[in-house]
Amino acid sequence: MAVAFSEKTKERFKAILAKYPEKGAALLPAMWLAQKEFSVITPEVEEYVAKLLGVPLVRVHEVLTFYTMYAAKPLGKYHLQLCTNISCTLLGAEDILEHLKDKLQIGAGETTPDKKFTLSTVECLGYCGTAPVLQVNDDFHENLTTKKVDELLAKLK
Ligand code: FES
Repeated sequence: MAVAFSEKTKERFKAILAKYPEKGAALLPAMWLAQKEFSVITPEVEEYVAKLLGVPLVRVHEVLTFYTMYAAKPLGKYHLQLCTNISCTLLGAEDILEHLKDKLQIGAGETTPDKKFTLSTVECLGYCGTAPVLQVNDDFHENLTTKKVDELLAKLK
């Protein structure tokens, strides 16, 4: 079946387009809509978005592979994105990463067999003042410690 937005998402897409002087400028929010609609941005979804906006397919692919907020492969129910940039690393992100790997029994870029957790390492999340930071779906967890990670995982399991 061909990829297409639902009627509700088409309306949201129209509202987004109205905010931009030209369609191509709406690429990032259009891709976000696509991700919300389809969960993962497959090559078919990339093609659909490119056609909708009249932009080259390579532009969509560049955005998909540059920004960690977009998923090119299926994610677990909870996407754990640990910042491993300088402030977070200086304040213990490496220990947090090892702890997460140990607790979840997966490596960075992997999903648990039950599809509950995907673990990723990402660049600066913009919370350097309260590093180390973990983004779980749309929520941010700051001043992380291994104890806080354990509490968080216990809540999510
Ligand atoms: S370095 Fe981790 S939030 Fe900025």
